Amino acid sequence: MPSRPHRPPRSAATASASLRARKQNLSPQVTTLWDFPSQNYGAGKQGDSHYAGATPSYIIWNLLHRYTNEKALVVDPMCGSGTTLDVARDLNRRALGYDLAPTRPDIFRCDARKLPLEDAKADFVFIDPPYSDHLTYSADRRCIGKLSAATPAYYEAMELVIKEIARVLRPDRYWALYVGDSFVKDKFFAPIGFELFGIMRRYCTPVDIVAVTRHNQTLQMGNYRRAAAEGNFFLRGFNYLFIMKKERQPLGQLTINN
Ligand SMILES: C[S@@+](CC[C@H](N)C(=O)[O-])C[C@H]1O[C@@H](n2cnc3c(N)ncnc32)[C@H](O)[C@@H]1O
Repeated sequence: MPSRPHRPPRSAATASASLRARKQNLSPQVTTLWDFPSQNYGAGKQGDSHYAGATPSYIIWNLLHRYTNEKALVVDPMCGSGTTLDVARDLNRRALGYDLAPTRPDIFRCDARKLPLEDAKADFVFIDPPYSDHLTYSADRRCIGKLSAATPAYYEAMELVIKEIARVLRPDRYWALYVGDSFVKDKFFAPIGFELFGIMRRYCTPVDIVAVTRHNQTLQMGNYRRAAAEGNFFLRGFNYLFIMKKERQPLGQLTINN
């Protein structure tokens, strides 16, 4: 059973953050099925809902609420529209965001395979990587969103990102990766979640797996639903949220009991 991080006594700032959360109808999730139908929580804005592939902010809110304390350093190596930065600051955490194609001045340009951060600095890492090559994020040839998840190149690139996350994370700290599988009719089904989870286990210990219900408009559109029924395939109804812990000792020296 992995130990939970130590929580300090509630400060006035924590109390006001939790009051804000209650007003916004946010409460910590307690099962492994998470459902929240919008990109932003409350009246505020976290990241940019018009950004293709923006992460629903309540996911990050739940993770930071559970696994970090105030002033913790939260890192997102593929920050996109900056959702992680906004949620972290909302909760009085420090935040560092990186991306190959920064969308705002507080995101640093770099490749997630080589972060400009010393070893063991981050208290928590969140990452929502490209899932295969169906969205165009930038013209940068190093963008992992240019690699098909039906090819080994995607997983090789993602392994370098995962290894880098394990390097910058402090021991005994947690991180999470949010991802969905990819299905392209008449071409392939790529079980990205299972493949990435297998890679993550080489570097860190699994803590839990959450299924997050997807609410995008495509799922509601009659023609998509008809095509799925008639074509005998499924629309993607959930994403995985993998939660991992970095151990103090190298993984090879641990007794794995799960
Ligand atoms: C799914 S989006 C992230 C969305 C973000 N969490 C948000 O809420 O806006 C994936 C991001 O990965 C970035 N990316 C792709 N390859 C990268 C790489 N090698 N290094 C850093 N960022 C990369 C893309 O530019 C894109 O912004």
